[in-house]
Amino acid sequence: MILNASGCLDALTAPDVAAQLDCFVTKTVTPLPRGGNPPTRIAETAVGMLNSIGLANPGIDRFLAANLPELGALGLRLWVSVGGFSAEEYARSCALLDGRDEVEALELNLSCPNVEEAAESAAQIVAACRAATTKPLWAKLSPANWDIAASARAVEAAGADGLSLVNTIRGLALDPHTNRPRLHTATGGLSGPALKPIALAAVFQCRRVSALPIVGMGGVWNGRDAFELLAAGATHVALGTVLFGDPGAPARIAHELRVELARFGLAASQDASGIAHDHALSFQPPPAS
Ligand SMILES: Cc1cc2nc3c(=O)[nH]c(=O)nc-3n(C[C@H](O)[C@H](O)[C@H](O)COP(=O)(O)O)c2cc1C
Repeated sequence: MILNASGCLDALTAPDVAAQLDCFVTKTVTPLPRGGNPPTRIAETAVGMLNSIGLANPGIDRFLAANLPELGALGLRLWVSVGGFSAEEYARSCALLDGRDEVEALELNLSCPNVEEAAESAAQIVAACRAATTKPLWAKLSPANWDIAASARAVEAAGADGLSLVNTIRGLALDPHTNRPRLHTATGGLSGPALKPIALAAVFQCRRVSALPIVGMGGVWNGRDAFELLAAGATHVALGTVLFGDPGAPARIAHELRVELARFGLAASQDASGIAHDHALSFQPPPAS
């Protein structure tokens, strides 16, 4: 299935875009409301976009009272992205969302580069959330983690039902006139085309060590990009930065993906999932001449 990446689409202001997706993922919701970081919060670069939004959101109480009923009325499959600053905070939000029928699954944002991290490890947070809800839990990991496969194994052991790979990676852009950082926070999260090889590597490595389903994301611009994430081991694909420039991207990329699958004689996306591993394992370099 094709989803949006958290924070890259507001289904309430762009329901026509959300309707093209198989499932909508909300922006990360934190326990308390957050205004986010001061501007400038977005900077385009030659290879992608830098953002330092800082998890601006209404907070879980207002989200539950106002946003969730409105989202539910859209009739979409709905995942809620949950953030926090301690395992207890994540778990409390999960417990509050547990009873809400509008919500199909929870994605735990364990990886935002623009806010302080929770002191606990990803696995500790997942374990706390697992105890708080029976909803499927998707652990969203950071590509900055050198051994992302070890994190994947740890969150799987802690009770995660799936992996979301990857969040943005820290980057910096300088103003050519002032030589100062272009973002107010100096560094921000880099998304878009530059992230694709990084996302592919993360998905590939995690697929090797974990049987969990994977939402692959990072720089998906067309059907071939989506296909490659599947080939590396993803079971689903999410669209992020591409949505800012192309509101028709979900339908376009779904079509292009079908064409790409057909090119390889594959009937459905699940048939493509992980094929890069078979090829990687069976590939024999030609003898040197
Ligand atoms: C403006 C912006 C806001 C984002 N907000 C969130 C967020 O609230 N929670 C989250 O887990 N990821 C957030 N992300 C990261 C995306 O969900 C995604 O992991 C990342 O952008 C990589 O995909 P892409 O290269 O297709 O954009 C945000 C990304 C952007 C560009």
